[in-house]
Amino acid sequence: MNYKNKMLRDDALKGKTIVVTGGGSGLGKAMTTYFLELGANVVITSRNIEKLQAVKAELEEKTGGKVLAVQCDVRHYDQVEAMVKASVDAFGKVDVLLNNAAGNFISPTERLSANAFDTIIDIVLKGTQNCTLAFGKYWINQKETDKVVLNIVTTYAWTGSAYVVPSATAKAGVLALTRSLAVEWAKYGMRFNAIAPGPFPTKGAWDRLLPGELKEKFDLAKKVPLKRVGEHQELANLAAYLVSDFSAYVNGEVITIDGGEWLKGAGQMNLLEAIPEEMWDMLEAMIRSKKSN
Ligand code: HXC
Ligand code: NAP
Repeated sequence: MNYKNKMLRDDALKGKTIVVTGGGSGLGKAMTTYFLELGANVVITSRNIEKLQAVKAELEEKTGGKVLAVQCDVRHYDQVEAMVKASVDAFGKVDVLLNNAAGNFISPTERLSANAFDTIIDIVLKGTQNCTLAFGKYWINQKETDKVVLNIVTTYAWTGSAYVVPSATAKAGVLALTRSLAVEWAKYGMRFNAIAPGPFPTKGAWDRLLPGELKEKFDLAKKVPLKRVGEHQELANLAAYLVSDFSAYVNGEVITIDGGEWLKGAGQMNLLEAIPEEMWDMLEAMIRSKKSN
């Protein structure tokens, strides 16, 4: 199956400027790469400017596209406002905000300090809120329309999850923000959607969610009905569609891309998958024999 292939036609994003928070690593870098290949200009932002400069050089060389690297800690509104200005100064306009930056680590909740909990909420929820508010106000003031905000959440935004409680709490807030503004700011020509990825191995996530031996102990592919983890290009394909004009009527949606992982955990009788094929004749006979009760 060709799920590693690139989906959209060449130039599908030509003329668009896309801001990707956390665009210097992991999934943010994968989406940035594909946006550049499709003809967009991309602003990549995070706390580490040296990393961003290196990625800018690498991706400009690889794709021939234009990248602006801007240092910006999304927790601080003044830095976000400066990032909006730098992006507009460089490219004249911004069409898409992709809220991808995140912080996370596993921990029993009772071990967390108040500051540890705050840190995750501040990066994930407040960071998304800061960027959304700054760009939203800018677009409204400028009377610019046809804008897109795409937020990266996770499937535990609605199921919740033990051991990553600050992240689950924050992602649930991001999902509520997405759905709320999809309605409120549609009148200004903005649409809001979210992607909920399942397991897509990245260094940033795996170092903090599956440190050391946990990587071998908890093979996340086994939790997925399709029995594999995600390919970065699959996520990039979905993100490119959602920021493109092809998805102009998709608004307020969260699209899950997890191979069926969260539903497997949710369906009450899904555990019957463990029953060997040869047992089913016997089980059926047992059930049929009780028909008259
Ligand atoms: C308990 C911890 C901790 C840990 C940090 N803290 N690590 N507490 N267990 N493992 C505490 C610190 O002691 C401190 O509290 C507070 O958290 C802030 O820590 P700092 O190191 O000062 O914060 P900062 O430098 O801002 O770094 C933020 C970070 C770090 C989140 C802790 O990991 C980071 O920079 N992460 C960015 C990238 C990232 O997390 N990527 C993964 C995304 S994966 P005190 O009280 O001591 O001051 C993801 C996947 C979702 O979201 C779904 C997957 C399936
Ligand atoms: P990652 O590489 O660690 O990405 C996180 C990015 O956020 C980094 O580039 C980091 O850059 C940036 N960042 C962190 N704190 C920041 C801050 N305060 N201000 C600005 N930028 C900040 O991890 P990833 O796996 O690619 O995650 C990307 C997104 O996908 C996240 O939203 C994550 O929750 C989501 N997700 C991932 C998976 C998965 O399986 N990988 C599953 C579901 C959802 P700096 O350190 O340079 O600041």
